[in-house]
Amino acid sequence: MEKLQAIRGMNDILPEQSLGWQFLEACFHSVVKGFGYQEIRFPVLEQTQLFKRSIGAVSDIVEKEMYSFDDRNGDNLSLRPEGTAGCVRAADQHGLLYNQQQRLWYRGPMFRHERPQKGRYRQFHQFGVEAFGMSGPDIDVEVLQVAATLWNELGLTDHLTLEINNIGSADDRKKYSHALTSYLSTKLEKLDDDARNRMHTNPIRVLDSKNLDVQSALVEAPLLCDFVNENSKTDFKKLQELLNKLGIGFLENPRLVRGLDYYNNCVYEWTTDILGAQGAVCGGGRYDGLVQQLGGRATEACGFAIGVERLVLMLDSLDKIPANVLKPLDVYIAVIGENIELEGLKLSQAIRRKYPHLGVVCHCGGGKFNNQLKRAFKSGAEVAVILERDGEGDESLTHAKIRRLDESGDSRLEEIVDIPEKLGEFLKNSAS
Ligand code: HAM
Repeated sequence: MEKLQAIRGMNDILPEQSLGWQFLEACFHSVVKGFGYQEIRFPVLEQTQLFKRSIGAVSDIVEKEMYSFDDRNGDNLSLRPEGTAGCVRAADQHGLLYNQQQRLWYRGPMFRHERPQKGRYRQFHQFGVEAFGMSGPDIDVEVLQVAATLWNELGLTDHLTLEINNIGSADDRKKYSHALTSYLSTKLEKLDDDARNRMHTNPIRVLDSKNLDVQSALVEAPLLCDFVNENSKTDFKKLQELLNKLGIGFLENPRLVRGLDYYNNCVYEWTTDILGAQGAVCGGGRYDGLVQQLGGRATEACGFAIGVERLVLMLDSLDKIPANVLKPLDVYIAVIGENIELEGLKLSQAIRRKYPHLGVVCHCGGGKFNNQLKRAFKSGAEVAVILERDGEGDESLTHAKIRRLDESGDSRLEEIVDIPEKLGEFLKNSAS
């Protein structure tokens, strides 16, 4: 029978890779905890309307990339392509937003039907933070500080650039869109089909075009920053001052517009040149209109999301995942002889109790000493404990042999110790 394969662009994360993911998750958890953010979990499936009304009906994500279907009741549902819309829906539905301040974080899989390549997948994962009820720019800077702290913890600061832009209010962008459409209509011969469509539906998205002809047509295009209102400019200036004073480096990129429609004022991306074309590792900004747009009361909001796969790729290529994190196991207990299973299970549990930070596996399924030792080497454990019964009795064992396992497969040390005290000491000195 033909074997079934995973869906293209949807990756399995195998045990060896999971260790790096866990390391990253632990760092993220500790950083957001340090900033007082609280976790929120919401479903991967939502009404399609939620994404249309938030990300924008004429955005690439909604037009081309959503996994949408009618369920058995005839409701049109979509797998979430991002977390902000679901987070706002959940927080508002449960009364967390009105007249309150919230600092929230989430993580989990997102789904976009994009053309898969390195760093771009159809199921990918995000860590996100969203802050509600604060007008900024201090909170925008705090949110950026969360990301900057994470990069610092991971040793990635030198490999990431923060690009920021001020896209003003919805009104500013409306005026700008008119100006841009008029300008583009004088450059039709250089526009591709996509840009010609977009210039009427969502002209600002033309700025993002990868087509070099379109880019050359944009050289003299009006700039969004010339249409931004004064309040927004003042906030943006303050934001830059705060970033400077906190030592968070940034570049101003007047062409940065983001692919989701809900933003206003400050938007940003952290990018790297290590990942080729998929260089955006984190993106976000302010979205003060979204809660109201989804039926709630006007609530200020800002946040970002990090692409976890891209971060893992970065950590791998820069060798930044610490070696001890990649060690799956500390102790492997081999059990030789008759009626030995219970002793093995008891001893491994005693070690776990006494040294909760150690990973302990007790061999199961029987087999000869040599085979068990091979498995011990293969397991990646640092130490093998060998429990051996010579006769057929079932009295408790008082001794174990211990072998330090090194990568070459040699056993360097063999020692007999009392169980459990001395064994504990040996482990304390040998396994970290
Ligand atoms: P986004 O820029 O669409 O923003 O996605 C955030 C990050 O998710 C990107 O910078 C990238 O690292 C990662 N990402 C996006 N698409 C893919 C993909 N197909 N494969 C792998 N990684 C991907 C948002 O999603 C907003 N919700 C961020 C936000 C939160 N804004 C305010 N709050």
